[in-house]
Amino acid sequence: MADDLKKGLEGVLVAESGLSSIDGDAGRLIYRGYSIEDLARGTSYEEVLYLLWHGELPTADELESFAAALSEEREVHDDVLDAMERLAAADERPMAALRTAVSMFSAYEPENDADPEDLEATMRKGRRITAKIPTALAAFERYRLGEEPVDPHPDLGLAANFLYMLTGEEPSDVHAETFDQALILHADHGLNASTFTSMVIGSTMADIYSAVTGGISALSGPLHGGANQDVMEVLMEIDESNLDPLDWVEQATDEGRRIPGFGHRVYNVKDPRAKILQERSKELAESGNSKWYDITTTIEEYLSQEKGLAEKGIAPNVDFYSGSVYYQLGIPIDMYTPIFAMSRAGGWVGHVLEYQEDNRLIRPLSRYTGPEDQEFVPVEER
Ligand code: CMC
Repeated sequence: MADDLKKGLEGVLVAESGLSSIDGDAGRLIYRGYSIEDLARGTSYEEVLYLLWHGELPTADELESFAAALSEEREVHDDVLDAMERLAAADERPMAALRTAVSMFSAYEPENDADPEDLEATMRKGRRITAKIPTALAAFERYRLGEEPVDPHPDLGLAANFLYMLTGEEPSDVHAETFDQALILHADHGLNASTFTSMVIGSTMADIYSAVTGGISALSGPLHGGANQDVMEVLMEIDESNLDPLDWVEQATDEGRRIPGFGHRVYNVKDPRAKILQERSKELAESGNSKWYDITTTIEEYLSQEKGLAEKGIAPNVDFYSGSVYYQLGIPIDMYTPIFAMSRAGGWVGHVLEYQEDNRLIRPLSRYTGPEDQEFVPVEER
């Protein structure tokens, strides 16, 4: 048995992938060879989905029919809407509601009987999931507010349509583009915990609904997708404390608190996605309230320089600026992680498709540390 235990699988190579690559020292992220900066500035989330799933950027015609297929599949079954209403009434957390919604989508999947090895069918199912997640999430939010859901708007792209379904009002171009960029930035990121979870499930040839539901579950934790919400909560805590942000951070770090939105298993420098979101946060701040942007940049500078975190390779990750961006877009704080899931679903589907093409069951080992040769005593004698 191999004896080199790698806790947290740190540094362990388990698969080959052509979807995305991270250079953690250079702070570079690419999807299928294209820099995240070029994709964020020049494409839409739909284009990125096509790129991740098909391996190349679509032509204009390909994009048109792909986006139309996604748009046509946005509606969710009434039973799913009813479930969202009940879960909202039960005060369920949005990530758990989303997990339930995706699990339920499968009941109305027209190709449920497809051969698990039919990857074209898996891709169509993945497209349906990706198309429906925004609708279920927006409905859940509307029910929480005591409002009826808003039907999807067929003429709006996936990002703009989600903002529309949240409020019933078409978003401004700036808001729609900013949100679209945020979705692009979160779509894929190598073998992160949720993607790996989806792949493990996919490697058993379980269906894509199971894989995406598993991805959502893994993403919900505060060490992964939950950090974007934590960042905004910390910013609000600082604001409400009436302390100078630097005094608050000093006190928090003295108490040994980790600052959410800082640190990453793979990056040793600032996450390139954080840089792009910082620009967006700044732009939104210039035309609105600059408070949140100001607090984040002040904290970043202080932690990076004066507290020496930059030297230790602990720098802002994608979540550090996404919180203030979403806040300025008017998105409720506990929807930040579900939005991450909404985007990352594209990556999970892409990785499962890629892995199943040349599938091998994922089944690692653990080193047994329990007792050996215990003498068995029947229950009535214990
Ligand atoms: N604030 C202060 N110190 C930190 C932080 C932080 N946010 N993150 C890591 N460190 C320190 C940590 O105390 C440790 O120091 P030492 O070696 O002196 O004990 C060192 O950095 C290594 O930490 P680790 O926990 O062993 O590193 P990891 O690779 O296991 O953890 C992480 C990565 C993301 C879990 C961690 O940085 C963290 O908890 N960050 C805060 C939560 C967060 O922002 N998560 C979002 C991650 S990015 C989005 C995503 O991929 O989902």
